[in-house]
Amino acid sequence: MSTPAKPQTESTAHPEEFNEITDFIDRYYAGRKDALIQVLHAAQEIYGYLPLELQKVIAEKLGVSLAKVAGVVSFYSFLSTKPRGKHTIRICLGTACYVRGGKKLVDHLIKKLGIEIGDTTPDRLYTFEIARCIGACGLAPALMVDDEVYKQMTPAKVDKLLAEIEKEETA
Ligand code: FES
Repeated sequence: MSTPAKPQTESTAHPEEFNEITDFIDRYYAGRKDALIQVLHAAQEIYGYLPLELQKVIAEKLGVSLAKVAGVVSFYSFLSTKPRGKHTIRICLGTACYVRGGKKLVDHLIKKLGIEIGDTTPDRLYTFEIARCIGACGLAPALMVDDEVYKQMTPAKVDKLLAEIEKEETA
């Protein structure tokens, strides 16, 4: 005779994993439905990304619908539902950069990192994205690593830059 199956809970959330953000909300934004973006920002800082279970916890804590939270997350490009790398590399494919070799840099990075645009390396060191003009058109092609802009880039310079980052990481 088989034992009765445990009732399925609706959510697989483990709220204790999210204590840091629930404490943050309690401390600074309790009952503040208008603070959704600030809270999502903080949650991404803490956890690195915003999985659905975390979105559910935030929705419940702020008293807003999950649909509203998910809508805001999908609207803003700086919010991510996928794990992100420690560093974000953005290659500019605005017109000036595109015509001066930006596409070559993209192809090079896809090969070098072994990931596609929008993905994160398995070691979570890099997330690779595309930008549309980062204000360095006169010295194209350009890219950004986190908040830093690098101009007149070539595949060789990209290799050197990544080697420097990786050296710093292992130091
Ligand atoms: S088009 Fe790349 S910096 Fe403007």
